[in-house]
Amino acid sequence: MDSKMRYERLAVWADTEWKQRYADREYQLLWAAESCGNQLAQSRVKPRRRLKNKTYYTGVVQIPCELVISISEYVVPGRKAMLGETVGAFVFSFEHPDGDFEIVYVSSYYRDDDPNIIAIALVPPEHLDAWVNFETLCNEAVRRPSRRQDVYIIGGTNAYFKPTVEWNEVILPAHIKEDLHSDMEAFFKDGVPIYQELNLAPFRKLLLVGPPGTGKTMLCAAMAKRALRRSRVVVYVSGADDDGASFHKIHHALNVVANAGYPVLLIVEEIDVYLRKDDKARILNVLDGLESPNNARGALLLATTNYPEVIDERISKRPGRMDRIFVIPPIPDEDLARQMLQHYMGPQWHEEHIDMVPSLVGQTGAFVREIALHARMLAAHNQRRTVDLETLQQSVFSLTNQMNTGDDLLPRRQIGFGSSGGNGFGDLEEIESPDAYIEEERLDD
Ligand SMILES: Nc1ncnc2c1ncn2[C@@H]1O[C@H](COP(=O)(O)OP(=O)(O)OP(=O)(O)O)[C@@H](O)[C@H]1O
Ligand SMILES: [Mg+2]
Repeated sequence: MDSKMRYERLAVWADTEWKQRYADREYQLLWAAESCGNQLAQSRVKPRRRLKNKTYYTGVVQIPCELVISISEYVVPGRKAMLGETVGAFVFSFEHPDGDFEIVYVSSYYRDDDPNIIAIALVPPEHLDAWVNFETLCNEAVRRPSRRQDVYIIGGTNAYFKPTVEWNEVILPAHIKEDLHSDMEAFFKDGVPIYQELNLAPFRKLLLVGPPGTGKTMLCAAMAKRALRRSRVVVYVSGADDDGASFHKIHHALNVVANAGYPVLLIVEEIDVYLRKDDKARILNVLDGLESPNNARGALLLATTNYPEVIDERISKRPGRMDRIFVIPPIPDEDLARQMLQHYMGPQWHEEHIDMVPSLVGQTGAFVREIALHARMLAAHNQRRTVDLETLQQSVFSLTNQMNTGDDLLPRRQIGFGSSGGNGFGDLEEIESPDAYIEEERLDD
């Protein structure tokens, strides 16, 4: 193990790089602004920009550095990516009447377990003024994300989130949807000034808990759509993989939230993943308010999880970590089962299908969608325009069967909804459903 501090290693690397490029030219080693490595700054501070001391900025190129892994995490679906490579190594070029010059710059995470960024720059001593001027421009450029960017998606390459779900497509008990929606509206309209009066960062935290496939992600997307309609910014952090760097995502997200300049809906899926890892102390700090984003217009966190037991002690038993917990259940009654089936049968819905409804209570929306699609497909395959009851029954049978087979083949992941008695989530016994989990795995394929 190299016992040098991270910045020392960066400095040694930069020194070598400098000597290769500029031989004996003198430089001064400086702590630098982390924003210079940020792509948003690099796209907003344009070449030909005039700086102090008759200097012109002429451009930047990224250079390889084996000590730093560049990270691109901000993606805007359907549009150009705005933020990326927050850390990396760069050479900035400048023009000056006495001769052009360059600056070698490198930024990196402080340590693997510390998401703070450090940055250093090697600057010719006679050009310090111009460089400081340039850093200031970069800082200003990243302070305010452009308004045109309404949705930020932060996460792995397959992050996929579209806030296009209509409110009435989410089939859940009406009171859950209404509660959730009015919580968001009340917070942004009336809550934010109250937090400010108390000198607190206006940050409200809601958690959706429920087994896989009950519509949590869908509900987040529908909430996002409603938020966008009211000119709020949406920041979505996708389910984290166990890659050891996940707090970076949260860290980035919180920066975006704090600097948005608009009210923000922050969606963090599978928050339990972060709580399982070494990062958990930092997540708890965020929830406790020590590292909460301070956005004067208000930030609402909407987090989801399948695992009440993971968040149980750390969150539910400590007031203030989550302001409200919403249980998103499987289909609780026949009325909703009928709505769900009718929705997914679409134009092929027929009154006789109602016979299936009782058997769908306790299943998830994902299950109903699947059996409806399957039945419709079978009917089409057999050149029938209507889906008869037998076909629908057959679909339920084969999917249930398949899930049960899966039970034997796949290791069970304990969901833990069955553990009753003071787990803080009310009576969840009836929604114990390892089957639903297996089914979800299959749907994901
Ligand atoms: N309440 C619901 N109303 C309508 N459709 C639903 C509902 N629940 C699930 N579905 C259907 O099942 C699919 C999967 O649901 P979704 O991804 O929202 O589940 P989830 O609760 O987020 O699951 P997980 O906990 O595994 O992430 C949805 O895209 C939708 O087609
Ligand atoms: Mg989900």
